[in-house]
Amino acid sequence: MDWFPENGLCLGLYRHPAFQRFVTDCLEETQLYTFDDPLAGVVANIMPEGSSLPWHYDTNEFIVSLLTKKPLSGGEFEYCPDLREPGDEHYDDVKNVLDGQRDKVKTLSLELGDLQIFKGRFSMHRVVEGKGERHTAIFGYAKEPGFIGRVERTQQVHGRVLQAHIDAEQNARSDGLDD
Ligand SMILES: [Fe+2]
Repeated sequence: MDWFPENGLCLGLYRHPAFQRFVTDCLEETQLYTFDDPLAGVVANIMPEGSSLPWHYDTNEFIVSLLTKKPLSGGEFEYCPDLREPGDEHYDDVKNVLDGQRDKVKTLSLELGDLQIFKGRFSMHRVVEGKGERHTAIFGYAKEPGFIGRVERTQQVHGRVLQAHIDAEQNARSDGLDD
């Protein structure tokens, strides 16, 4: 996020009141907030040729993404709706998916410019390998103001940590789930 121009399109869209209102209405929330996190609010996700994004959950409950470059083939988004819930990881179901069981897996093939609004905190998801690069802009919003990612997670996802993350480390998550 700190590499995007302050007055550019990505940060402009992220902070635009009408766009925030649209996302909030789609999620049937009354109010959502941009992150205080200086890295995670807007992320350019660049998947090189032949790469994949493995199964994971998102730190934030919702993720809003825009496909800015569609791979030539492949690169489908796969997800397992509500595989876990607050207080229960449902690790047996997770193991089944990791072992290749497909009954809980849904597949979505996104087109260039598609806006995807996805609840990734409880629905495990991945992007399968494709041919050619796949680019997305990812916009993070939170139900509460002041969201900042944890140090360890931030290091894993962004490869670096800023002072704001270290300062916020003492604030534990309230839903009892692992990142
Ligand atoms: Fe994700």
